[in-house]
Amino acid sequence: MDTFEFSKIAGALLCVLLVIVGSRTALHIIEENRGPQKPGYTLPMPEVAAPGKEQLGVGEAVPPPVSLPGIPEGDVPAGFDPVEAAQLMAGADVANGKTIFRKCIACHSGEEGGPNKVGPNLWAIVGRAKASHEGFTYSEAMKAKGSDWTPVELASFLHKPKEFVPGTRMIFPGIPDVSDVADLLSYLNTLGGKPAP
Ligand code: HEC
Repeated sequence: MDTFEFSKIAGALLCVLLVIVGSRTALHIIEENRGPQKPGYTLPMPEVAAPGKEQLGVGEAVPPPVSLPGIPEGDVPAGFDPVEAAQLMAGADVANGKTIFRKCIACHSGEEGGPNKVGPNLWAIVGRAKASHEGFTYSEAMKAKGSDWTPVELASFLHKPKEFVPGTRMIFPGIPDVSDVADLLSYLNTLGGKPAP
């Protein structure tokens, strides 16, 4: 047997060995992978578009908004608009405004010549200069605010007092709903002898 012959036989033997070892390994792998391969639990993941070609392209479509838990899609609460509140005064419900004003009377009188309580008297408050009621000691923040109480500014203040006048001494959380603010404004507007709209 020459070396060439020997090499051929050796090669063939190696091949056979490889096939045997290879298929044994393959069988082993198949054996291991048998049965359901499920993860313990699925993480709730928001559907975020994977960065792909579309994100690299110019002028491509924007990926869909990621939905936030608790906020139904397409029903995101709109921000409070004080201008809208002032506009809604015209058709507002004055009686409801008077009911809401009950939250204020612990601290405010709405009567003409009425006393200052924890807060200043609110007679003729719509259009009145800020921090201008006689005999009431206002916070520095309120005194520094300046200008008159227009319906729009009143709406902003009554919606979120601490946001509109940071440092105000008025401890009141504010009225969330725009139409409630409009109703209250229309009631405040009657405190000044003006007829209800
Ligand atoms: C817990 C007491 C309290 C309640 C409740 C309260 N306020 Fe006040 N309010 C105050 C105080 C105190 C001030 C003075 C704020 C300052 O100087 O920073 C004030 C100031 C104001 C002013 C500015 C007056 C001015 O002369 O510049 C307005 C307007 C006002 N309140 C309206 C209301 C309305 C309307 C409500 C009810 C929805 C209300 N407040 C509820 C205590 C209160």
